[in-house]
Amino acid sequence: MSQHSSLDYRFDQRVVSQYDTLRGHPPQVAATIGQAIADQIGTRARVLELGVGTGRIALPTAAAGCEVFGIDLSSHMLAALAQRIGDEQLNRIHLAQADIKALPFADAVFDGALAVHVLHLVADWAGVLTEINRVLRPGGTLVLGRDWIDPESFGGMIRNYFRRTVVEVGTDMLPPGASAAGPPSGGAAIVKHLMQLGARPVGQGEIIAAEWRTEISPRQILDGIRSRDDAESWVLPDDVLNETMRRLEVFAAEQWARLDEPQGLTRRFMLGVFRMPGPRAATGGV
Ligand SMILES: C[S@@+](CC[C@H](N)C(=O)[O-])C[C@H]1O[C@@H](n2cnc3c(N)ncnc32)[C@H](O)[C@@H]1O
Repeated sequence: MSQHSSLDYRFDQRVVSQYDTLRGHPPQVAATIGQAIADQIGTRARVLELGVGTGRIALPTAAAGCEVFGIDLSSHMLAALAQRIGDEQLNRIHLAQADIKALPFADAVFDGALAVHVLHLVADWAGVLTEINRVLRPGGTLVLGRDWIDPESFGGMIRNYFRRTVVEVGTDMLPPGASAAGPPSGGAAIVKHLMQLGARPVGQGEIIAAEWRTEISPRQILDGIRSRDDAESWVLPDDVLNETMRRLEVFAAEQWARLDEPQGLTRRFMLGVFRMPGPRAATGGV
């Protein structure tokens, strides 16, 4: 078995060219997500997006009226986003190449902050949360967004089996999506740390910003993982991916008689929303 302790999540040109095809939301869904975020933070709000990527979330959030400041480490992702900013959004989206571990902003300058599929990439995600609190004004809003598929659906079952198998095959490997070091970055650990910073959750648990249906076959999902088009398989070493696929094919053949038959899959975009104390009232020290 392989010994691969850390994965190389480089958001390079290869990833850029596939990112929106794989992760992009249908236009109406994107607009609904942007509006839901603006509703939570405020329509004219100044919003910092951490790990803005190709603007999948930033663009519809700006279209809904927010002024978005997007930062990212990857010049490739930022270049792709810069090309997509339309004339009407030029004054509402500002980009900078920067590390979310050390935000290049003064204290208390933003009304809101937005983080989507990025905290798990940083070992010191707790330090990032402290940084976010520092740059938010008192009472500012932090929105943690994520894509969701029903874990009981065929898509969810394939995803869970894949994650478990990668860890079995890659012996000391972390599950895809887990942080390379530091405490686990799962939702519960993040919420606990936010509470220690003095955050107040808005509502009971996460909000469903958008829900939509797609048609896809188990075979298409398997092929996406095998070809490394899937975000969670693009970084796997060959030997780990090959053995994982062998086991996944056996699992899928046992579960579904017709692997090529498209099935309906419900997808959601979820928001965890928190009111933050801002730097002066923070208990974690700034
Ligand atoms: C999975 S993508 C998510 C992009 C976007 N938030 C979305 O949901 O479409 C993660 C992004 O975070 C960026 N990233 C990873 N670590 C970072 C860091 N330490 N500082 C800034 N950006 C980082 C990557 O370059 C990439 O663009």
